Amino acid sequence: MADENENILVVDDDKNMLEVLMLRIEGEGYKVSVATEPETALKMAKDNPFDLALVDLKIERKSGIVLMRDLHAMFPEMPVIILTAYGTIETAVEAMKEGAYSYLTKPFDHRDLFLQIKNGLEKSSLSREVRRLKALIGEKYGFENIIGKSKKMQAVMEQVSRAAETDSNVYIYGESGTGKELVAKSLHLLSSRKNESFVPINCTAIPEGLLEAELFGYEKGAFTGAVKAKKGFFEQADKGSIFLDEISEMPEPMQAKLLRVIQERQFYPLGGQKLLKVDVRIITATNKDLKDEVKTGGFREDLFYRIHVIPISLPPLRERKEDIPLLVDHFIKKFAKEMKKETKKLSTVSLQKLLSHSWPGNVRELENTLEYAMAMSTQDMITDDLIFQGENKRTEKGKLKPLKEARNEFEKEYIQNLLLLAGGNVSKSARLAQKHRSDIYDLLKKHQMKPADFKKTK
Ligand SMILES: Nc1ncnc2c1ncn2[C@@H]1O[C@H](COP(=O)(O)OP(=O)(O)OP(=O)(O)O)[C@@H](O)[C@H]1O
Ligand SMILES: [Mg+2]
Repeated sequence: MADENENILVVDDDKNMLEVLMLRIEGEGYKVSVATEPETALKMAKDNPFDLALVDLKIERKSGIVLMRDLHAMFPEMPVIILTAYGTIETAVEAMKEGAYSYLTKPFDHRDLFLQIKNGLEKSSLSREVRRLKALIGEKYGFENIIGKSKKMQAVMEQVSRAAETDSNVYIYGESGTGKELVAKSLHLLSSRKNESFVPINCTAIPEGLLEAELFGYEKGAFTGAVKAKKGFFEQADKGSIFLDEISEMPEPMQAKLLRVIQERQFYPLGGQKLLKVDVRIITATNKDLKDEVKTGGFREDLFYRIHVIPISLPPLRERKEDIPLLVDHFIKKFAKEMKKETKKLSTVSLQKLLSHSWPGNVRELENTLEYAMAMSTQDMITDDLIFQGENKRTEKGKLKPLKEARNEFEKEYIQNLLLLAGGNVSKSARLAQKHRSDIYDLLKKHQMKPADFKKTK
């Protein structure tokens, strides 16, 4: 008897035929969904993928071959069996060339039908297995730097390896320091684009006026200062992936230009006459909820939907504390190597301290905490006095502090006041402080603050 979990789609505009097929196939114990129209069939497949499809060669408005192509665009490995009327063998052969798994000529013998279904399903589970194995091998390479055994991180990795098989745009969302850039890189390394470039761009690090030139490139003399032609990031990323970090900070005029490039996959460099075509996967990241930005008009809705095809959300560290011991291990090894020291053990109290912290700065904060502890520790054990030492000192009043620490504290207070004054607006803060926006972001990151913390809520 068939496996009930196997889901079969049958598409035929002949309602009687459909009824017969459904009863028979259900009778064999499969789950069956039927459609008389290609559009309905596609929508059903999108909502709930099938293991196999039986498609009549001639359905209203669209040929079965076209439907098969559309199905394969979404599910390249799904076996499609074409049903043809007697005498249309040539078209059946054509269907095979187009990637059909097999064909059946009506009227067909039901034993034949079930044999084909059974073989097709075996093929489909075989390709699933191959894909799973491929992902496992990929894990060794692409995921080697991502530490995380928690269910939440495992789910993230699963999403990443699935996304890696496609060319769709990926949108990574997560608090500061949760590993967005790391995930973007792994995604690239797991994809078929891995031998081409991965080009990361921090949208806040490039002054607004230069962003267009940097992204799309320019010809010599395109603007004052363009002393020679330069390839833009999009061209550098051709056949590979481009990573647009902090996408929420992309200025409005650039959002419009980016939208056009995503839609058309071609553009003119500044001052250039030649249209450039590029084939890039676009990966974006943000620590702000872009949906909110869309609602308040800070981000274009049409662009949002273009980049938000496969969303991957990274959980904050406080929601996966079981990963802390593994991460600690990883960072101790990393810093031991970098500092040419022996690896060290963590005292139980130190670990307790780490586990009870709420980690507003996520993995980056943990990494910094361990870097400090590894640098300061003189024994083979990291004792708890080395964990959050900065914070402990701050509470000691009346003592003269070291200059570095005092400066840090001043800086933290300054940046807090600055952002409060600017209502959380980074551009405005930058103007007030006469600094670049990227400097403001660096300071915020250093002190584990987010612009959103300073936004007026009403
Ligand atoms: N799961 C993880 N395993 C190992 N290292 C990690 C993990 N997550 C993050 N890191 C490390 O933490 C640091 C911060 O990660 P990353 O820069 O990718 O975060 P981010 O989300 O891009 O942060 P931000 O929003 O501040 O830009 C990096 O040094 C990264 O290598
Ligand atoms: Mg980042």
